[in-house]
Amino acid sequence: MADRNRRGRVIGIISAKGGVGKTAVALNLALSLMLDFKKRVLAIDAHSISPNLSLYLGIIDVVPPGISYALKDPSFARESVYIHSGTGLHLLAGSITSVKEMDLGNLKQVVENLRGEYDYIIIDTSPSLGESLRNILRACDEVLLVVNPWLPIVITNLKAVRIVEEMNKPLRIVLNKVGRGMGEMSVKEVEDSLGHRVIVTIPVDLEVYRGVEERKPVMLANPKSPGSVAIKKLANLLVSEE
Ligand SMILES: Nc1ncnc2c1ncn2[C@@H]1O[C@H](COP(=O)(O)OP(=O)(O)OP(=O)(O)O)[C@@H](O)[C@H]1O
Ligand SMILES: [Mg+2]
Repeated sequence: MADRNRRGRVIGIISAKGGVGKTAVALNLALSLMLDFKKRVLAIDAHSISPNLSLYLGIIDVVPPGISYALKDPSFARESVYIHSGTGLHLLAGSITSVKEMDLGNLKQVVENLRGEYDYIIIDTSPSLGESLRNILRACDEVLLVVNPWLPIVITNLKAVRIVEEMNKPLRIVLNKVGRGMGEMSVKEVEDSLGHRVIVTIPVDLEVYRGVEERKPVMLANPKSPGSVAIKKLANLLVSEE
């Protein structure tokens, strides 16, 4: 068991583009850190518009207080954590009914109030370049930028990279949905374009997609599938840096 006084590591999963796989990566990474590496993990759904982290875990009927409650008053951060019965994963879930965009101004304080209780805090985010991204970056120690190997996605993310650099946060790239076909950028082309290292490549894997559709994450449903293996490799790399 890790030293409970140690400060957890806060990792933001970001991208300027939607649909690149932020939530799939965030959730399966959180599960792998917890299940394969026995880490204490909290996953935060900080997606303002479509918070679907808990949905991807199959949570549809429970309405825990969640992230919006914690953001209103960070002293309630701990009470806002929901423990998923199927996996034991700790979650600050998003509200699937609220139509108001979340103000993430207090996110850093929420994270700081919980940091001592976890080894890893994984934050899933909206595709944003505005104040919500800056608030997310303020709360994070480091960032994983999820992109797919296609020029428009990579180029759009130049702006995200610039903001992350302005805020002096370490950034690595997760290259997801690799192997879909012609016209893909290589790892080197992505690294040269964005000026940062690709930490892992995750192949296009129907099982990742199926895991989302069936609300049973690939890491649980099919841990040997190539997508799971790649995300486990990412978890292993992070743990090896401790
Ligand atoms: N490696 C992969 N192989 C196959 N499908 C994938 C992979 N990664 C993600 N997907 C699929 O891509 C779609 C988008 O994934 P996801 O919801 O994780 O993206 P996102 O970046 O979180 O989107 P948003 O910006 O809307 O929050 C989903 O249908 C998911 O199953
Ligand atoms: Mg998402």
